[in-house]
Amino acid sequence: MRGDKSDHSKGGVGAPFALLAALAVALPGLLAPARVQAAGPPAAIHPGIWPQVRPQLPPDPALERKVNALLAGMTLEQKVGQLIQGDISTLTPADLRQYPLGSVLNGGNSKPDGNTLAPPSAWLSLANRYYLASMAPSPIPHPVPEFWGIDAVHGNNDVYGATIFPQNVGLGAAHDPALMRLIGAATAEEVRVIGLDWTFGPTLAVVSDNRWGRSYESYSADPALVRRYARAMVLGLQGRPGTPQFLDARHVIATPKHYLGDGGTRGVDQGDNTESEIQLRDSDGAGYPVAVAAGAQSVMVSFSSWRGVKMAANYGLLTEVLKDRWHFDGFTVGDWNAHGQVPGCTDASCPQAVDAGLDMFMAPTDWKQLYSNTLEQVRSGRIPRPRLDDAVRRILRVKLRDRLFEEGPPASRPLAGRFDLLGSPQHRAIARRAVRESLVLLKNEDHLLPLKPQERVLVAGDGADDIPMQSGGWTLTWQGTGTTNKDFPHGESIWQGIAQTVRAAGGEANLSPDGTFKQRPDVAIVVYGEKPYAEFQGDVPNLAFSPGDDSDLELLRRLRAAGIPIVSVFLSGRPLWVNPELNASNAFVAAWLPGSEGEGVADVLFRKPDGAVRYDFRGTLPFSWPRTPLQFGSDTAGRPLFALGYGLRDASNGNLTPLAETSGLPSAALVDNRAFFVAGRTGSGWHWAVADDAGATPLPRGLGASDSGRLTLTAIDKTRQEDSRRLRWSGTGQSLAEISGATPIDLTRQTNGQMALGFDYRVEEAPSAAVTLGMGCGASCGGTVAITAVLRAAAHGQWRHLDIPLACFAAAGENVSRVWTPFALQTAGRLTLAITNIRLESGTAGAAACGH
Ligand code: BGC
Ligand code: BGC
Repeated sequence: MRGDKSDHSKGGVGAPFALLAALAVALPGLLAPARVQAAGPPAAIHPGIWPQVRPQLPPDPALERKVNALLAGMTLEQKVGQLIQGDISTLTPADLRQYPLGSVLNGGNSKPDGNTLAPPSAWLSLANRYYLASMAPSPIPHPVPEFWGIDAVHGNNDVYGATIFPQNVGLGAAHDPALMRLIGAATAEEVRVIGLDWTFGPTLAVVSDNRWGRSYESYSADPALVRRYARAMVLGLQGRPGTPQFLDARHVIATPKHYLGDGGTRGVDQGDNTESEIQLRDSDGAGYPVAVAAGAQSVMVSFSSWRGVKMAANYGLLTEVLKDRWHFDGFTVGDWNAHGQVPGCTDASCPQAVDAGLDMFMAPTDWKQLYSNTLEQVRSGRIPRPRLDDAVRRILRVKLRDRLFEEGPPASRPLAGRFDLLGSPQHRAIARRAVRESLVLLKNEDHLLPLKPQERVLVAGDGADDIPMQSGGWTLTWQGTGTTNKDFPHGESIWQGIAQTVRAAGGEANLSPDGTFKQRPDVAIVVYGEKPYAEFQGDVPNLAFSPGDDSDLELLRRLRAAGIPIVSVFLSGRPLWVNPELNASNAFVAAWLPGSEGEGVADVLFRKPDGAVRYDFRGTLPFSWPRTPLQFGSDTAGRPLFALGYGLRDASNGNLTPLAETSGLPSAALVDNRAFFVAGRTGSGWHWAVADDAGATPLPRGLGASDSGRLTLTAIDKTRQEDSRRLRWSGTGQSLAEISGATPIDLTRQTNGQMALGFDYRVEEAPSAAVTLGMGCGASCGGTVAITAVLRAAAHGQWRHLDIPLACFAAAGENVSRVWTPFALQTAGRLTLAITNIRLESGTAGAAACGH
């Protein structure tokens, strides 16, 4: 039976049948995923080895007197409320009258009225309502105003119309602290116009393994650069301490994150950092002392662990180092329900984190229960009053420095409603400069770049005219998916920038994503790269670019075969192994994720009409560039292809000898780990099987028939030869087609992260009986969802796409922490279905209900 790995890996002939039975018969309830606990004793912290910090904010007795006076007038409920932050998707302004919470946040997908494209006025009006509710005359004699934190991490990127600056990885390539300061100040203004005064940034991770999906949020693997940027960005966002500008109405509170060690988890999001204390201090620890010295008022505590201990429970780092040694007198804020991952805690209860030094819980979903549990824990003495008062004092101190009491309701503050500042020409000019400075030239055969604008230029690739793709995650949505160019009213795609530059000089520019052309171009600019992702959805097993999908490379090779010079503009959140693409290109530019000002790319690619260089390339690599897909980190052996700091100038010799094109990986390992069946191949470790009551048959390539002949699988073409399968059920009894593996995978995080099982399908003969789609977790374990109605409603002969949230399978009984079979399709009736691209899909927050 399934669930026993050794049995299944022997050939598993009995296995699919067991699943068939499990899915067809009654299903057991959902098993709770096991929480993995780190072994071994927690590592001790030695505060004395950490740097000393001289804060730029001197002690202020008058401020402390105000803090104490406020504290003395607060009820216990109010004090506990300050410790808790709810998300705008679950907490209304009216709730604040009953629950005196000290702050709110909006997660990456949480918007006013649930509207991804909410107008700035809706943000301002909602901010105003929260503030007024927190100050409403109520039984509480001395109300304390709430404030609202937002992820303004590359501009005020959650908000429609904002300037979208390059992601941090590109800013790292620019090596320009003065520019950081300008970006910080511009971002602060764009946050202020919607009535907010607090951002969750900058990210100070010093990423040492680029398999991590948050690599693009990191400036660099170079601690010295992160240190310089930490200071510049904090000063830009908050203003300089000791000047009238500090936290005035044009500036916002900064939150260096994620403290501490998030960049050293070996490519695993929310993972364990096993570095020594000294390594931790000198890598991820580099930016924080500087940020604290520059006056940062809050610090976000990381999801990750250090040596097996979740950061939210790390007394040594939160209290002894940050607060005691560095004299940090602002407050710590948790990450999204991260306290719930501390052993013994839940999302709704975690006094352990308060003990360790957490001052404010980020409790997007369970704030109400957390509030009452924390109140109870204070009343019972579980949370000592002095610790409660310390946390509240820190929050009040920041609220006073932020002039929250004086400034009054958000709508009455000086920049409120100045919506002209969102995406203003001044801010866009700063972003465009940042794009120019961030481009890194890796290859430039025979000085192909810069180009002459008077030529006939073909612009190809799926990234050429795609602002969402050039912006990446944390852009209007959490994953950066589900949007199009028209959702960026002030943005320009790379194509638009090129077209303007070329046409203004009398040249000819043609957009052709697939690279076809009528008239032979003088040069082709091909824009391609990674598609948007955020957090764990971007974690990858190695640095191979686009595993299992060679379409970009095929495009380059087609143009090359036609003898057309090719400039690759590569969009990515990290360096990736692209040797074949480098070989196929005459020039290659790493453009990272440049954001909404695509014209910055054309500024550097083209000369002035008179032939003079307009802007020289000046970006250099913030991370080393891999020679093999397995060179993902600073500790992986071998010389990188290009070292950190590498970058050509136009004048230098940009020729590159041909690079090895074999990845060194077994071909299966090149397949995307979220892909079960894509481009005609099963992903690494997955195989097809069919089963019915006459027995089960493994069909490794997904071709063949069940023993009874009731179900047959044949290869057909969708866009490429044999990239799809036709599944034909004869209608003579239950039979099932499934994809399963020899070891189970854990999809717990993916399920919480609202991912879905998705596939393309074409109904060729409508179902005559009920059809279910299931996921299996071993013998008599699984969950199925009915898809009969959706198949019946689908137009005959047309390709369509279906996404079913993983949560639906979990609710139906699948144990998502042990998925042996991610896909199982079953019916007793007649049905002919073409199917392909079976994979996990991200960003399907609002996706379909569970039954179809
Ligand atoms: C991320 C943080 C972010 C927070 C609020 C978390 O999942 O780790 O970086 O600030 O969500 O959106
Ligand atoms: C938030 C993220 C969070 C995620 C978890 C998103 O909406 O913005 O910060 O990690 O939800 O599901």
